Formats: sequence, C-alpha cells, structure tokens
Amino acid sequence: MGKKNLMDNDFSRNTFSKWAVSILSAAILLPATFSSYIAFPSLCEAFPRTPEDIIEESCGDNNTEGEKVLIAYDTVHGSTTSIAEKIGEILCEKGFQVDLRLARWVKDISDYDAVIVGSAVRELKWLLDATWFLRRHKETLSEIPVAYFFVCAALAADSQRVQEQVTPIYMDPILEKFPEIVPVDIRGFGGAIDFTNYNIYEKLLIWGFGSTENIDFRNWEKVTEWAETISDLL
Ligand SMILES: Cc1cc2nc3c(=O)[nH]c(=O)nc-3n(C[C@H](O)[C@H](O)[C@H](O)COP(=O)(O)O)c2cc1C
Repeated sequence: MGKKNLMDNDFSRNTFSKWAVSILSAAILLPATFSSYIAFPSLCEAFPRTPEDIIEESCGDNNTEGEKVLIAYDTVHGSTTSIAEKIGEILCEKGFQVDLRLARWVKDISDYDAVIVGSAVRELKWLLDATWFLRRHKETLSEIPVAYFFVCAALAADSQRVQEQVTPIYMDPILEKFPEIVPVDIRGFGGAIDFTNYNIYEKLLIWGFGSTENIDFRNWEKVTEWAETISDLL
C-alpha cells in the first residue's frame, strides 16, 4: 500500500514537472519568437518559404555569341522568382545567355557581362540576401552594366505616377548604400498577396493593410516591356 502511494506520488510529480517544463518553455519561447518577429522581421523572413519558391535555371545556350547575363533575385513567396524568370525568358529570346539564380547562393559573378538584381519588398525594404549580394559583389558590379527591379504590393496599380512615388522609397536606401553601383535602369513591379501561404505574423501585417485574400498584381505585359527595354541597355 505504502509502495503504491509512493509510486502514485512519483507519477504525479513526474507529470507535474513535465507540464511545468512545457508551460515554462511556452511562456518563454512564444513571446521571444513573437518579439523577434517584431524586432527583426527581415531576419526572420530572409529565406524563400518553400522549395517551389526557388527557381534556378539557364537559357540561351544557343546564343553562343550573346552576352552572359546573371539575374540574381531574392523572394519569400515566389512572385519575384516568377518575374525574374520571365525577364530571363525575354532576354534569351533577345539573344543573351541567361542564368537565373537565388542571390544568396551566388558565389562568383566574374563570368558575367551584365547583372540584373531583383528583390521582393517587405516592411518597406529590400530583402536581406539581395542587399548582401550587392555588398559582396559591389566591386565587380561597379564595372559592368547592372539593372535593378523590385516587386511589391504598392505597385498593384502600375502607373507612371505610382512608379515615381514608390521607387524612391524602396530604392534610395539601396542607391545610397551602394553608390559605386550605378544601375542602367530601375523598375518596380506589382507582385502578389499570397494569403494561403502566409504565417500568422504575415497575416496580421497584411490584415493591417486591409487585405484578407489572395491577390495577384503581376502584370506580365509590363515585365515583358521592361525586359525588352533593358535588353538594349545591358
Ligand atoms: C510581411 C509582408 C510585408 C510586406 N511589406 C511590403 C511593403 O512594405 N511594401 C509593399 O509595397 N509591399 C509589401 N509587401 C507585399 C510584397 O512585396 C508582395 O507580396 C510581393 O509580391 C512579395 O514578393 P515574393 O512573393 O517574391 O516574396 C509585404 C508582404 C508581406 C507578406
């Protein structure tokens, strides 16, 4: 009898300590995770969310005389990837050899005649890996033609007026940080609100802006038009 009581006590003590540890961990980890999202959103969100958001491919192999262009992009939910891919397709049709790469993974750019760098915009800024790409390769980038593009929700209605309002907000910090890189052109594109794949932090933020559903702002005509324009500038 005494033995049973002892075992019961041990059991309830063990169960109690397990619960205590779980509650304590949750009490520490949840606020820590949430506040780190608030304090360092770009660090927490600095990588494509799923493998499908990353495309690495090359085209224009037959354009043996064509210039080699790198399109280095950064994304979280893949709309920037799709726009980068479209730009690559057009440039290959125009006679270039194009490599499409996630900016984070590019080690060496010495092989390229020109580089296009594109980033999604979050919390008013370029993503970290796109910025780190510029920092890592700024010397080479200062010597060859470079074009920038960014993808955001503010360009849902892509007019000249909105371009003029939005571009300085998202691009001036980049131009000021890397004055040695002088882009031949800069273009903003509307992206997509991808509610289905947002985490709770993203949902809260986007709800705050009044959106509650998936919306696709990508305008392929504008993307094609820009790709054709820069093909003359690179
Ligand atoms: C958390 C979060 C923050 C965002 N911040 C901005 C912003 O500051 N300005 C803006 O125009 N769009 C903003 N957007 C919209 C994104 O730029 C847009 O959804 C873009 O298509 C995302 O590109 P991606 O799919 O390549 O990640 C934000 C979206 C999310 C989810």
